[in-house]
Amino acid sequence: MIKCKNLNKNFDDGENKNHILKDISLEVVSGDTLAINGSSGSGKSTLLHILSGLENTSSGEIFIDDTNISYLSENELCKLRLEKIGFIYQFHHLIKELDVYENISLPLLVKKTEKGEIEKKVNEIIEKVSLNDRKNFQIDKLSGGERQRVAIARAIINNPKIIFADEPTGNLDSKNAKNVFSLLKDIANSNNSSLIIATHDNGLTKMLDKKIIIENGSIHYV
Ligand SMILES: Nc1ncnc2c1ncn2[C@@H]1O[C@H](COP(=O)(O)OP(=O)(O)OP(=O)(O)O)[C@@H](O)[C@H]1O
Ligand SMILES: [Mg+2]
Repeated sequence: MIKCKNLNKNFDDGENKNHILKDISLEVVSGDTLAINGSSGSGKSTLLHILSGLENTSSGEIFIDDTNISYLSENELCKLRLEKIGFIYQFHHLIKELDVYENISLPLLVKKTEKGEIEKKVNEIIEKVSLNDRKNFQIDKLSGGERQRVAIARAIINNPKIIFADEPTGNLDSKNAKNVFSLLKDIANSNNSSLIIATHDNGLTKMLDKKIIIENGSIHYV
């Protein structure tokens, strides 16, 4: 479960105070799926980053299960993110020096998972995202859509209880977009995870249980 209460975010550039998110409260329970819509620059990515503890709030509280994440140290927050959260970034953030297999195995390495177990899990997930024949490719040799699928595999390899996806189908044709969505939905279903997706994609939005729009910093349920 993830919940925020009266969340505000300002970006202060010295002269102007940009109040990007205004007094936002929402809750997403286990197994629920939420689409976040809104025009470019409305604050979708900022909201996802804040909810997942990647960025600070200006004020307000965020609870992941029963933990108020504002009170956690950086170390505790990292641990909680590793245990409970999978994040698919809008711009992937893959490591260019590593190949597909190595990128996907990173969260397991950080968790000090045993080598045989890593091999089993990574191979399973590579199969699911249809990247078998790209396993040992460097990231810069992949297409945009293939990178997207590596980013998705890396985010879900730990079976996170909360999955955030920032425009996960942004670079994909409709067939691959459908596959990616089914994959996210399957993982979320089998693990009873919450799935929170920022997207412009109407087709994708329609397939989620709930939908909010960010307008002028506030959210509206539609
Ligand atoms: N670190 C920052 N410093 C100052 N302003 C920022 C910062 N990060 C984001 N912003 C501003 O906050 C606003 C919201 O950005 P955000 O990336 O959340 O939008 P978005 O809804 O995800 O847009 P898109 O659909 O284009 O991805 C933008 O106007 C952006 O310029
Ligand atoms: Mg964005």
